[in-house]
Amino acid sequence: MKDRYGVVLVGCGYIGATHLDDIYYRDNVKIVGVVDVNEDSARLFARKYGAESWSSDYRDYLENAEADIFIIATYTETHLEILKACIACGKHVLCEKPVADTLEGSLEFVSAVRSAESRVLVGHILRHNDSYKRIAAMIKGGAIGKPRVFRMVQNHNAVNWERYRHLLTFCPPIVDCGVHYIDVAQWFTGSKIVQVSGISTNIDADVPEGSYNYGMINAVLDDGTIFNYESGWSKNMMAGNLKEFIGDSGYIKLVLACDRSDGHELGDLLRWYDGKTGEHHIINVKSIYKNMYGQLLELIHMIEDPEYVSSPTIDDVESTMRVAFAADMAVRSNRVLHLDRNTQEVIDGGK
Ligand SMILES: NC(=O)c1ccc[n+]([C@@H]2O[C@H](COP(=O)([O-])OP(=O)(O)OC[C@H]3O[C@@H](n4cnc5c(N)ncnc54)[C@H](O)[C@@H]3O)[C@@H](O)[C@H]2O)c1
Repeated sequence: MKDRYGVVLVGCGYIGATHLDDIYYRDNVKIVGVVDVNEDSARLFARKYGAESWSSDYRDYLENAEADIFIIATYTETHLEILKACIACGKHVLCEKPVADTLEGSLEFVSAVRSAESRVLVGHILRHNDSYKRIAAMIKGGAIGKPRVFRMVQNHNAVNWERYRHLLTFCPPIVDCGVHYIDVAQWFTGSKIVQVSGISTNIDADVPEGSYNYGMINAVLDDGTIFNYESGWSKNMMAGNLKEFIGDSGYIKLVLACDRSDGHELGDLLRWYDGKTGEHHIINVKSIYKNMYGQLLELIHMIEDPEYVSSPTIDDVESTMRVAFAADMAVRSNRVLHLDRNTQEVIDGGK
């Protein structure tokens, strides 16, 4: 157990800033270094967050005894290489999702984590969001009866289109953002996705070749729950957010604080209809949308207690990546794919 953990951030972009905003000033954290291939970004992050030094090459910190934890917040295609280098040097890792831009890379990632002595947490940030944790507990406690339908939409108005265009070269939105919601569906039900299909299109004319910037997934879980998910990143679409969890005796709808018509100061709004009593409830939850410090504390817990079971586990991550890439395959080939209920490998792709 340490009083202070030395952190190195690799990737000084949007999500790198979101991590540091929430952790740089904490008593038990020291920002040892910040890294970006873009030297100006690294230099400015070092100044802003009081890092002791900066570099354009993460390998400069691999032998640094002060560096306990690496946060990997670079482009998806680079996560695996950086992870392997970190765990080879005994560094603990908090890695952004998706762990890789292919299923093969994702499986290599989870296999490396399983055989590592270091502790590795993947950034499924909704696992550390108090509203989502509350809904998970409510559903597991029977608040909506048997889950039947989960409806989720996460559309981004791509103000910074060049950043989104670049991310599209690695993964489409239903994979990049989809991993969060595939994980939520499986986490809330305790069940596994066993069937996927979907559709996609390009909204904008200049989407990178081979990708698509709008997609919908239809999935069926092993317990019979239906899960549908819509995700797009476009200059031509409004931001949209729908999270609704429907069971055979009730529903819970999550309205984020920023989307409430009033009472933003009360936090997120959970509308709960209890079909057993016929009562409607309003639950306010003060929740941090991206609870980066809570997520880092999860990793610290894993480091300090080798028996601690993390949220998510690496099995959850593997499962999520298998479903996300199966959904991408289903969309691209216009097929309905069935997944083995234990391994979640694609077992057939009939019409
Ligand atoms: N958890 C979430 O909610 C969430 C949200 C957004 C993005 N992400 C994920 O975070 C990752 C980064 O996305 P972003 O939106 O921050 O992108 P971004 O373009 O804003 O930032 C990425 C940064 O990484 C740097 N970089 C790339 N390769 C590097 C390398 N080898 N070494 C050092 N620096 C390198 C780039 O120069 C850039 O500054 C992606 O995997 C994305 O899917 C997660």
